[in-house]
Amino acid sequence: MAPLWAKAAIVAAALLQLGLAWNIDLPPCTAPFQPFVYSGCFQDPTSQPALDYRSSLPSNNMTVELCVAECKGNGYRYAGLEYYGECFCGDSVNGPQLPESSCTYPCSGNTSETCGGFDILSVWQDPTFEPVDNSTISDYVAVGCYTDNSTVGRTLSFQVDIADTASMSTETCLQTCKDGGYPFAGTEFARKSMHNLHLLPPLFWTYSN
Ligand SMILES: *[C@@H]1O[C@H](CO)[C@@H](O)[C@H](O)[C@H]1NC(C)=O
Ligand SMILES: *[C@@H]1O[C@H](CO)[C@@H](O)[C@H](O)[C@H]1NC(C)=O
Ligand SMILES: *[C@@H]1O[C@H](CO)[C@@H](O)[C@H](O)[C@H]1NC(C)=O
Ligand SMILES: *[C@@H]1O[C@H](CO)[C@@H](O)[C@H](O)[C@H]1NC(C)=O
Repeated sequence: MAPLWAKAAIVAAALLQLGLAWNIDLPPCTAPFQPFVYSGCFQDPTSQPALDYRSSLPSNNMTVELCVAECKGNGYRYAGLEYYGECFCGDSVNGPQLPESSCTYPCSGNTSETCGGFDILSVWQDPTFEPVDNSTISDYVAVGCYTDNSTVGRTLSFQVDIADTASMSTETCLQTCKDGGYPFAGTEFARKSMHNLHLLPPLFWTYSN
């Protein structure tokens, strides 16, 4: 019989394959907000998604405005459109910038707009976010111990892989989350290696800026 941790890993892998099972999908922002500004054309590497959050909005009638409103409503810094109308959001863009000529696909909901390319994203940015200073983690403050038992999604939706699990510490978690532009960081389940390095609550920090 497989040990319990192995079962947990299998369940986690199954949930991750569903893509949306870990994060709570909030509605798009319908109130007026400061428009996002265009950041550029970026590769979406197959090794890891350039933007963490894959929107559940249908891709067959997508516009820049719809995707930006989705990312605004879900609290993200970046919105990205790929392959005619897939909408992604994230707090950092984890892929190299490409020449503008690489973003050529028209958007499914407005062919005057550009929706990236094959594994390529047209990225827009919320100008109201302050820049992230990843040279320090001292601006994170502990905000307490939280449960991670929600039927609608994990308390913190995204895990960040840490190369050296043996050196896992609060500082490592905070630096990794800071590099990724995340306003919240959390550690969970001390034996990280068994859980494929989840950085999730109960212990929970946020930075103030
Ligand atoms: C596409 O979305 C627009 C609004 O963005 C809506 O007016 C239109 O009816 C939609 N078209 C289809 C085919 O769903
Ligand atoms: C389509 O996109 C263009 C360029 O952003 C914009 O000027 C135009 O108003 C959009 N059309 C509709 C129907 O939203
Ligand atoms: C901050 O982020 C940049 C770009 O991702 C990285 O090269 C640098 O090593 C990071 N700095 C620290 C202190 O981690
Ligand atoms: C998790 O939540 C469910 C329903 O919200 C509840 O029935 C269950 O007791 C909770 N489990 C723990 C360990 O708190």
